Parts: sequence; structure tokens; C-alpha cells
Amino acid sequence: MTATTLVIFGASGDLTARLLLPALGQLLTTEPDRRVRLIGAGTDAWKDDDLRKVVRTSFESADAAAAADRVTAEYHQADITKTADLTSLLEGLEGQVALYFAVPPAVAAMACEALTPEIIPDGAMLVLEKPFGTDEAGARELNERLSALVPERQVFRVDHFLGKSTTLNLLGARFANRMLEPLWSAESIESVNIIYNEKLGLEGRAGYYDGAGAFVDMIQSHLLQVLAVLAMEQPATLDEIDFREATSAVLRATAVWNDDPVASSRRARYTAGTIDGKKKPSYVDEPGVDPKRNTETLGEATFEVRNARWAGVPFTLRSGKALDNPAREIVVRFRAVRHIPLGLTGSTEGAILRFSLGPDQMSLELNVNGKENPLELERVALTADLGAGALLAYAEVLSGILDADPMLSVRGDAAELCWRIIAPIQAAWADNKVPLEEYAAGSESPKGWPALR
Ligand code: BG6
Repeated sequence: MTATTLVIFGASGDLTARLLLPALGQLLTTEPDRRVRLIGAGTDAWKDDDLRKVVRTSFESADAAAAADRVTAEYHQADITKTADLTSLLEGLEGQVALYFAVPPAVAAMACEALTPEIIPDGAMLVLEKPFGTDEAGARELNERLSALVPERQVFRVDHFLGKSTTLNLLGARFANRMLEPLWSAESIESVNIIYNEKLGLEGRAGYYDGAGAFVDMIQSHLLQVLAVLAMEQPATLDEIDFREATSAVLRATAVWNDDPVASSRRARYTAGTIDGKKKPSYVDEPGVDPKRNTETLGEATFEVRNARWAGVPFTLRSGKALDNPAREIVVRFRAVRHIPLGLTGSTEGAILRFSLGPDQMSLELNVNGKENPLELERVALTADLGAGALLAYAEVLSGILDADPMLSVRGDAAELCWRIIAPIQAAWADNKVPLEEYAAGSESPKGWPALR
């Protein structure tokens, strides 16, 4: 049993303890033959034991305490923006090595500048978190830097929505069912909504979030990836080449609806309110927020995938925080049939196929003959629980990293494209051409926003 070496830059940080290590624990629990050598690096003056303690508590939080025996952990205090520190950290590492940048993007970019191909262990994977750059040019520059260090298939740009089981369920539902696959186009589909609402507010993340906002935090990254999976052409295989080429092709064809960023987007920010009985301060009163930045906590945008399969179908993506509206779903609305026999009355709207992103469910709403009067159509929903998947989304992504399989990581061109797609909306918002509306924390949505269903 050879151990994979996972080097975590930023090992003493929040991401490592909150997401990365619990995911590692869960992964090791499901893969009892795997062992990991963990090398943590950070600026904090930690000892090996401090990291081991975090491994234990994180594994316990993921019900994975027993798997901690298969991890050896050591910690090095280091400045990863210095070539000398990186050299001594990486010297002599062999076998399967992954370098995980669990640090803010600016620090990751500086570390990539400090890295040189000579000090990177052979075949090592470089793993970067979102946001990848802050605009198209920045993402391109970072990509150029990375490609000077390792080949593209060794670069992992993490988007944990690609590891969510509902996103992956889109593949099975669509490609393995003859009653869906032939209908999966503008011929039969009228609209697609991808919604991800959260009750969580800022949760002390102003340092990052106030500079990003809902649009960059969720839509530019996660929800555009989900759109790409939903809309892609059928890949011959689910390997990293076919799958990522198919999703990139969708992103290349995606643009703001009608090229009108003002009419095709909305934004809003929460004011004081109550969620689950707890008072939330107004976003602008949260510590670390600069009200002048006009950061939105809820964003929406409609896009079009301009190809033969999808032209004319609006894809609306919406995500917000501090909302008392549990919708986290992909809603595929089919067109109504062309003709209903005279004599049948009642509900005639098109079928709706709904994939919920936690709890993971799929439901199909159809018109059927009524219970009382068989000629009066009623709406029913056939619902199936899909199960959450054995692995947390992060663990799914980590599994790809430890297997050196980049299928579920964002390819370099896709990372650039996602910035290109949203740029017109960002510009319209920066010019205040779209009003920044308000909603009380704990409300369903701002007044006047249509329910997306
Ligand atoms: C993260 C965002 O990438 O995804 C967070 O930065 C968001 O703001 C989170 O809350 C949502 O994903 P999940 O899987 O935690 O619901």
C-alpha cells in the first residue's frame, strides 16, 4: 500500500479544518486501502501535533475517526511565497504528490510565481481553489503561469459543485433514459432554472465575500458549471478529455441573454431580519463589510447557450444568502404539447423535471387525469430520493485528485470562459445600470422577483 503525499499549503487555515480534512476522512473511510502522507505548511508556528490534532477533530466531525490511523501528518512553518521555503518543503518527495493551495487566491498566485518546474516533484498535481483569478485576463495569466510549471492534466481547479451527487445524477438521468435524451433540446425544453438559495449569511467571511458577492461566489463558478453539465453534448466516455471538452463547448457558446445585461440580471442585498428565530444584522452592518462596495448577497442572471441544441432557451441562474427559501434545484421545464384533445380540461402546462441539490431528489411533474373527474387534468409529481452519494462533494473532488483524474476539475479554458461570460453583467452592475435591491434577511426573495419554479 503506497501512500499518496498530500501537501497542504495553508494547513493551519479554516478551509483545511472545515472542508478538506473532513472530506479526506470520509474518503479514507470508503477506501480502506488508501494511506496518505500529509504535509502541512503554513505561516503559523504550529508543531506536528497541532496538525495531528486538527486531523483528528476533522475526521471525527466526518464520522471518520478510525481512518486517522492511515494518515501520517507533519507540519512545517513556511512562507510559500518564497522559492527557498518551497524548495525545502518539496525536496525528496516521491510517488503520487498533490500540492493543495488552501490559501486565498492572491497567495496562491504568489506561490505559483515562487514555484519552479525544477522543485516540483515529478508528476505532482497542483490543486487550486476558486475563485480562479478575478477576471478573464487574470485567469489567463494564472493559467499561463501554471502551464509553465506542469501539464494541464496535472492542474486541478476545484469546483465542489462538480462533485455534488445531483450534478453527477444529471448525467445518468439524461443519458441513460430514452424518454429523456431525445427530448433534451430547445425542441422540447422551454426553460432551465438553476437555483441555489442559502439560509447562511456572511458567517464571518467578509474578507473574501465582500470582494466577491453572490454573483462571483456562486454563479460565475458553481452554477455555470452545473449549466455546462446539463447542456453538454453527449460525451463518448466520461473521461477527463471527452467530459471536459463537452462542458467547455457549452461554455464557449454561452452568452448573456439577448446580449442585454441590464434586462437579464438582478441583484439585491439583505437588510436586518430573522432566520430560524435568530436575528441577523443587515449585510452592511456585518463586521468587515464596506457598504460602498455595493456587494450583492443575491444575484440572478439569464444566459443563452447559442448552439443548435439550445438557441432560444433561457437558462436562469440565481443564488443568494440569508433567504428563507429552501430552493436548491435545477428545474427543466418542458414545452406544453401542441394540442390537447377538446374535452380535456384543467392543467395543461408542460412537464417539469426537477433535480434537488440536497436533499438529493428528482421529481417529474406531469398532467394526469383527475381523481374526481377523469377528463379534468391534474398535476402530479413522481418523486424519487436519489441518496446523497457516499461521498461529500469535496471528498468526491479529492478522490479525483488522489487518483490523479482531473475529470471533475475545471479545465483552464473553462475557468477563463466563466469570467468572459459574466463580464457584461459585472460591467453593468459596476456602472449601476442594474439597481441594487433589498430584502430582509429571512424573506423568500426581494419584492417583485418572480418565484423561479
Ligand atoms: C462555496 C461558497 O463555494 O459554496 C459559499 O463560497 C457557499 O458561499 C458554498 O455557501 C455552497 O456550497 P455548499 O456545498 O456548502 O452548500
